[in-house]
Amino acid sequence: MNNASLRPLGRLVGKLRAALPALSGLLLTVLPALTGAAGPMKIGIVGAGNMGGNLAELWADAGHEVMISSRHPEELKAQAQAIGPNVHVGTAREAAAFGPVVVIAMPYGQWPNVSDEIKAETAGKTVIDLTNPYPERDGPMAEQARQEGTGVADPKYLPGAHLVRAFNSIIYTNLQSLAHRAGDPVAIPVAGDDEHALEVTDQLVRDAGFEPVMVGPLSKAELFDVGSEVYVKVMTAAELREALGLAKD
Ligand SMILES: NC(=O)c1ccc[n+]([C@@H]2O[C@H](COP(=O)([O-])OP(=O)(O)OC[C@H]3O[C@@H](n4cnc5c(N)ncnc54)[C@H](OP(=O)(O)O)[C@@H]3O)[C@@H](O)[C@H]2O)c1
Repeated sequence: MNNASLRPLGRLVGKLRAALPALSGLLLTVLPALTGAAGPMKIGIVGAGNMGGNLAELWADAGHEVMISSRHPEELKAQAQAIGPNVHVGTAREAAAFGPVVVIAMPYGQWPNVSDEIKAETAGKTVIDLTNPYPERDGPMAEQARQEGTGVADPKYLPGAHLVRAFNSIIYTNLQSLAHRAGDPVAIPVAGDDEHALEVTDQLVRDAGFEPVMVGPLSKAELFDVGSEVYVKVMTAAELREALGLAKD
């Protein structure tokens, strides 16, 4: 069996984990081993909107424990309940403290505020950053980030965190409709410096129903930032590698 034919099985493992927590015996031990799926992770998401909400659903479906967050966490309860029992709600700080993986899915202009709120919690953790700077929405700090590239501009907000850029270059409607599509999966470009954080991200991209393409160190995130040739283009991994001039896998 190849990876593509095993994907639906991996998704089934996640659904089983989420729906039947009591069934933690033989079946759930054997199926992940067969599919190559990793065990459940605890993922805290800063944001619960188009990106954060859809990723929460994809990862909850894959069997992970997820916390979505916003400045109004009490308003997120119905959203979390609609996804499943493995989705929790909290503040940004609570999401950052929730587990070893944190995802930043808020408007770029919120970085200075949120940085102060969560940086004590994110040091040493895998932090997946999908924020994109839009000066018309986010103000002058976004203009500077456009010039520097997000891989250079963003780490200052979370010192000591193992930052990875991923999921910034896919429109949320494609997250919803193209996850786990039949045939070759849609590629997600990924850049980061920490090996473990990259491994975790690789797994979470796959669990969300996409294929990671490792582009290089964090400083190379500019290759798929806003305005780049590949930004929000729907491509297979082979097409993305060719567009970015990367070696074939
Ligand atoms: N939309 C896309 O297709 C897409 C694709 C790739 C990347 N992105 C990037 O992803 C990020 C999120 O985009 P989105 O479309 O998901 O935005 P969105 O739908 O407006 O959601 C933003 C979320 O962030 C929360 N938030 C804002 N400020 C916060 C704070 N200080 N603390 C905690 N939560 C806060 C919001 O909740 P409250 O306002 O209630 O606090 C909301 O849940 C942006 O940087 C965007 O550029 C978007």
